[in-house]
Amino acid sequence: MIVLGIESSCDETAASVVIDGREVRSSIVASQYELHEEFGGVVPEIASRAHEQHILPVVRDAIAQAGITQADIDLIAIGHRPGLIGSLLVGLSAAKALSWSLGVPLVGVDHVHAHLYAGMLGRDEPQYPALGLVVSGGHTSIYELRSALKVKRLGTTIDDAIGEAFDKVASILGLGHPGGPQIDALAREPGANDRSFDFPVSRLGKDSLDFSYSGLKTAVLYEAKGKPAPPALPGKDPLPKPEVPELTPERMRDIAASFQRAAVRALTIKLDRAIERIDGCQTLIVGGGVSANTLVRSKMHEFAGAHGLELIIPQIGYCVDNAAMIAGLGERLFSSGQADDLTLSAVPTTAC
Ligand code: KG4
Ligand code: ZN
Repeated sequence: MIVLGIESSCDETAASVVIDGREVRSSIVASQYELHEEFGGVVPEIASRAHEQHILPVVRDAIAQAGITQADIDLIAIGHRPGLIGSLLVGLSAAKALSWSLGVPLVGVDHVHAHLYAGMLGRDEPQYPALGLVVSGGHTSIYELRSALKVKRLGTTIDDAIGEAFDKVASILGLGHPGGPQIDALAREPGANDRSFDFPVSRLGKDSLDFSYSGLKTAVLYEAKGKPAPPALPGKDPLPKPEVPELTPERMRDIAASFQRAAVRALTIKLDRAIERIDGCQTLIVGGGVSANTLVRSKMHEFAGAHGLELIIPQIGYCVDNAAMIAGLGERLFSSGQADDLTLSAVPTTAC
């Protein structure tokens, strides 16, 4: 089955051709980093307009690079949730138009579930039950999987996503957007000391499988820029803002490494708790943009090794948003009997 996948949920316009849910024939991603850089984050209106400009060339490139024609396509898979509503609508409208004009079926795919599928591209089906972890710019969630389609969320972030924390810390340190890869690189610099600062690791009680990254982000902000001046007492002069040491390159890389250690430690604490709740767990499945992070990858290998699990983690190119994961999971959904029609909606939230 030849599947065309389309993805436009945030700031990447992507299209991909995947055969039988496994073999990636093409994967085209048009990023918009430079458009959002000066704002330090994704601006929804700018993203929608850029998707509108990129969508047709990206779809054409994906079909051409796969060496097929439109007439060869058997199914259109579209990431229709979750995401920025204006961005989702651009991809969804293109997908519907193609499905209608080519007379081929359409299937809607949950973007977060597709991140869990990304590591299964190009390989055999793993063993279940599995423990799943999605770490991205918009999501930090833990799952129990009984198959690629039977996905149950066990916990999620109660505030910021881990990738958002990486991006905000990068912005505090004056680095560009997206900041995750830059923090990763700084933390790997020779001499970077991840014990320099004792940043907080959120646990949220002893049983919780949820995550919280806002406290860590604030702790980094205070370390880098200083705490706000204490409020003045009535009738007294305001107290001066406490002095902060200069943000030297050495201090920056120590802050980056210490932040990264705390951020990743929170993941392994929750995985330790979650695995106790999945009887006979066989596999650890990780996905999302932050699964490209060097420390995340090595800790996931360590965790899987320590628990006798097989680790499924995407190749670097399929960690961040892409349409191959959408096409792959779309094929799975369609083969199991699911399909959508032209009433399919864009939905800002995940299906859980
Ligand atoms: O999965 P993704 O493309 O988008 C969402 O679905 O949210 O993830 C993007 C996120 C960004 O926050 C980016 O900074 C982060 O993934 N990221 C990384 C790395 N590469 C991308 N974070 C840490 N280390 C990396 N190497
Ligand atoms: Zn994503």
